Amino acid sequence: MSRLSESIGSVEKVELNDSKVSLKLTNGSAEISSFDEQVFRISIRIKEERDFSYAITDPARINREINIDDLKNEISISTTKGHLKINKDQFLIDLLDQNGKSLLKDDSLGTRFIGNELTVYKRLKEDEKFLGLGEKTGPLNKRGRAYVNWNTDQFAYSPDDDPMYCTTPFYIGINQDGFYGVFLDSTYKSLFNFGASNDRFTSITVEDGPLNIYYILGDNLAEITQAYCRLTGTQALPPKWSLGYQQCRYSYYPEHEIRNLARTFRDKKIPADVLYFDIHYMEDYKVFTFHNERFPNPKKLISDLKEDGFRSVVIVDPGIKVEEGYDAYEEGRDKGYFMKYPDGEDFTAQVWPGWSNFPDFTNPEVRDWWKDKIGYYTDLDITGIWNDMNEIASWGQSTPDLIINDYDGDKTSHKKARNVYGMQMARSTAEGIIKNKPNERPFVLTRSAYAGIQRFAAVWTGDNVSTDDHMLLGARMLVGMGLCGMAFAGNDAGGFVGETTGKLFARWIAQSAFTPFFRGHTMVNSTDAEPWSFGEEVEDVSRNFIELRYKLMPYIYSLFWQAHKDGMPLVRSMAYYWPGDSQIYDGAFENQYLFGDSIMVAPMRSDTDFVKIYFPEGEWYDIFTDRKVQGQNTSILEYEIAKYPLFARGGSFFTEQSLVQNTNEDHDGTLKIHLYHGNIGSKYDFVHFEDDNISFEYKDEKYYQRRISYDPAKNELLFNIPEGKMESSFKKIQLIFHGFEIDNISINGSGKSLNKIEQYRFISKISNFDPFYNNEDDGLHADDLPFVEFENVEGEIRVKW
Ligand code: GLC
Repeated sequence: MSRLSESIGSVEKVELNDSKVSLKLTNGSAEISSFDEQVFRISIRIKEERDFSYAITDPARINREINIDDLKNEISISTTKGHLKINKDQFLIDLLDQNGKSLLKDDSLGTRFIGNELTVYKRLKEDEKFLGLGEKTGPLNKRGRAYVNWNTDQFAYSPDDDPMYCTTPFYIGINQDGFYGVFLDSTYKSLFNFGASNDRFTSITVEDGPLNIYYILGDNLAEITQAYCRLTGTQALPPKWSLGYQQCRYSYYPEHEIRNLARTFRDKKIPADVLYFDIHYMEDYKVFTFHNERFPNPKKLISDLKEDGFRSVVIVDPGIKVEEGYDAYEEGRDKGYFMKYPDGEDFTAQVWPGWSNFPDFTNPEVRDWWKDKIGYYTDLDITGIWNDMNEIASWGQSTPDLIINDYDGDKTSHKKARNVYGMQMARSTAEGIIKNKPNERPFVLTRSAYAGIQRFAAVWTGDNVSTDDHMLLGARMLVGMGLCGMAFAGNDAGGFVGETTGKLFARWIAQSAFTPFFRGHTMVNSTDAEPWSFGEEVEDVSRNFIELRYKLMPYIYSLFWQAHKDGMPLVRSMAYYWPGDSQIYDGAFENQYLFGDSIMVAPMRSDTDFVKIYFPEGEWYDIFTDRKVQGQNTSILEYEIAKYPLFARGGSFFTEQSLVQNTNEDHDGTLKIHLYHGNIGSKYDFVHFEDDNISFEYKDEKYYQRRISYDPAKNELLFNIPEGKMESSFKKIQLIFHGFEIDNISINGSGKSLNKIEQYRFISKISNFDPFYNNEDDGLHADDLPFVEFENVEGEIRVKW
């Protein structure tokens, strides 16, 4: 074997059939196919390996018919969306759009290998930007950086640390000629270099195994995420309770502490849905046990909490304590379900319970066993499970490479299996909840993941730190995760490691209220970090933003339905809308994002009351005051602690309901629609969704779904005919106009007069303990808003003005 890097060589033989092109190369082989009109697949290898994927939902589609041209110097496969061309002489790949414009082209280095390590080099374009890779630190635009995918327990990571807990080897490139997505489907350790330490290339390296790469085209960036989600699956529709506020700490115990916590939320009227049981709920940290003294009657406790509108989530880690007489250990050992060394001895490492063994979740038989074990929790009526430490983490953090994983019947060393271990654990946990409680949608939260995790679980960004930098980094990480289909993601609000200040906590709650997964959490031995732990002011502010989250639930729930249908995340990169606007990549504005299509969030620090915000093209409204800001403009604005920079996008609307204390409580039956004057350049469409919030019956169309379209050119809001077998829980609609000067309105042809809301508040006035807020005007309301109220009838409703 050469000690130098070697080229994979040139194309020596071409074999065509309807669905793929097989190439023999001087030093390897390649296979080219297509998944759908937007997606090409190319698999390059220097040695044979089974073609199998944990990420791809429907591998059969890769065999669809394609359009192939085999010319003298070039092979080209085409779809309606573009072309993939291969130069035969040097085996160079070029991805082109439908007009023949090259989007991503191999550098002349092409594909090379050093030992088993295989790399493809792409020519860097001037001003090319790189977004994605999921849960990664660093700036929004990854240009000039390199990232490793190797699932790692990164306790208290710095805002630049890498690798992280998750592997989602998918990114979107944006350059002067257009944009494209690249998905590397490899569970081996991989490296993405976006022009780090060089001025020549972007490269993708796999430590071993084939380079299985999907090139994705799209007319816009959203189409690229959606195509990626057709490949790897969309977000599982979560139970609605998991979208409420979740309170965690490491750990709440004993029982009366949990009961107190629940009582305090209700007494203080701070809405919440979920309470957590971190590792101290167990006997000696043994999974599938409750500590006898701390929690003598878990069934009663869980049921009382549920009565009070709280769901319980328990932590379940992979490490199983080595202890004679402990059934999970004995069963796993006797059945041979733990990961082993090549000589057959079980791999043993230390984690919370002390010396532990680790089920091999890449073995389908082990997953089936685990699903049955999960019955322990579902019998207690627990359908929320938190899979942590599943990178896997152990003291010393050096899982030996030589241990063996089944990898679904194709035994492999841990080198290939590590990156998918956590995902397979989350998968069997989710499938276990469903198996034991088939009528409830599970909530699984995982720390470690691989591409496609969204089919099974929510992901949080692990052990962050209580600092402003971390809070802002959290927003960027969620943008990256959203681009990669991980729609249900969040950060520990308040920060996990270290002590948070009241002001940081308040800001973090406000930010996290506008992220999909909304949980406060803190580490063992840190001071209290509940919404009331920092005095009245922070309590009021936290309550306000948690309340706002609950009031926006119709909007948020509908966004989750969209994520489930087509993969669009809730935290949306500004690049989805304005990919060509260089300002959005600027370090000063890189934390801004859209929450759904109509609310812009501008995350801000807690150590200042000022924030510099970029307003992209269009019209923007401060959601609290309705103050209008014209787009393509930068402003420095003041936000004291009670406020937060949230802007409605002119030309769009979002929905609101009355306040509830948990998602199981009924609203008052009126759906508020806040419509903002402006024009996004097209009609604005939103699909309002309702179902029973918990079961799988939506699969039999037991839902209520209505497309609502705002057409600014026609001055019209159209409620299309509802779909599905359910009725809406909203009997009335209140349409509130923001930024409009209107007097007359017609609903299905008949005139209606408008009334005015004198003062509209999305959040309440905070208490009078601070003289500042004794002022008559706290600057948190919009005045004289025209509105109209009408019945939410079944048929089409056309509102015109
Ligand atoms: C890990 C988790 C953290 C959890 C702790 C104890 O550090 O990331 O969230 O609280 O373990 O279980």
